[in-house]
Amino acid sequence: MSSAHLPECPIPIFTTVASYREWRRKAFDAKQTVGFVATMGALHEGHLALVKRSLAANDLTVLSIFVNPAQFAPHEDLATYPSTLPRDLESLSAMSLQVKVQGSNEPLTRTPSAVFLPTVSEMYPSGISQDVSLQKGTFVEVKGYGHQMEGQSRPTFLRGVATVVTKLFNAVEPTQTYFGQKDIQQALLLRRMTRDMLLSHPSPDKLHIVPTVRDPASSVALSSRNAYLTPREREVAAPVLHAALQIGKSAWQDGASKQDCVRQACALIMDMAEKLNAFDNEEKINVRLDYVEMNDTESFDVLPDNISRVQWDLEGSEREGRPVILSGAMWVGRTRLIDNIILGDTRKLGIIE
Ligand code: PAJ
Repeated sequence: MSSAHLPECPIPIFTTVASYREWRRKAFDAKQTVGFVATMGALHEGHLALVKRSLAANDLTVLSIFVNPAQFAPHEDLATYPSTLPRDLESLSAMSLQVKVQGSNEPLTRTPSAVFLPTVSEMYPSGISQDVSLQKGTFVEVKGYGHQMEGQSRPTFLRGVATVVTKLFNAVEPTQTYFGQKDIQQALLLRRMTRDMLLSHPSPDKLHIVPTVRDPASSVALSSRNAYLTPREREVAAPVLHAALQIGKSAWQDGASKQDCVRQACALIMDMAEKLNAFDNEEKINVRLDYVEMNDTESFDVLPDNISRVQWDLEGSEREGRPVILSGAMWVGRTRLIDNIILGDTRKLGIIE
């Protein structure tokens, strides 16, 4: 989008890396810290929770909005991905947070400092095809960590994410950055990538994970894609994913094997799917389970079927105290929903409370 077509906004918007860098240079010179939240827009309270964390802990806060073609497979929803730029800018402009600063009695009011809104050609100067076999140029792959969970259902997704976030980190040069637990594999993979690539902006310990924000009534994890849901899909079908994960969590806590926990969670979704698919009128909803699985937070390996919590957490073993990801995905109509629960101590993953 050219700057001439941008909605009015009190927050400076940068559409090119060069113009952003001029602004960033001044922050470096003034020794101001920069917090960064990467998004694809269609902002909701989940995104804004990340912005609030950044406002609380940084002199300046930058948010990017960029719908990244490389993380969508050719058959996925790139063309219809929700776009609500004027509303996004309004939500950001309405945000402010009072913070206490050292050496002053007066609280300081912080607001978002800049929006980075690049075009596809700015982010992919050599062009970008969604078809991996046609792609040319430089891509970032975190080998061994991109084929499980979300990566199993969406094989090119995490490569696309790692590539664009590397570019965003290079452009934005954040001191700290904030990602959502909602996409836990993405967040942990990106932290590994910052470590593997010896990044300094951000360093791996400055990539923070923020708990999932949910709809208070239904516990559905907020997501830009929820905009695709009809009211009935949202009310009747969507809440079953979190409910299923909760059943899996209780079973794990009660000592059931992993296989049993996953089976119980899947059963809830499949029962609901059967009921809703059976209608032959407008009440019919196509619900389809994609996966529910439990994975190691370090390797992302699927947990062995027969293992239970006590065996996983074996005292003295190298795994002792290591949390587990219980995650799932399901289709409700044309909308793919994902969610996860961490079993164990979330602080061990650097999830901020
Ligand atoms: P997007 O889906 O827009 O999400 C941007 C950030 O918001 C991610 O870190 C995501 O985990 C977080 N987020 C989304 N819903 C949330 C919720 N309900 N609670 C807390 N955090 C939530 O994730 C992406 O964009 C892209 O893959 C991106 C990282 C921007 C790379 O293109």
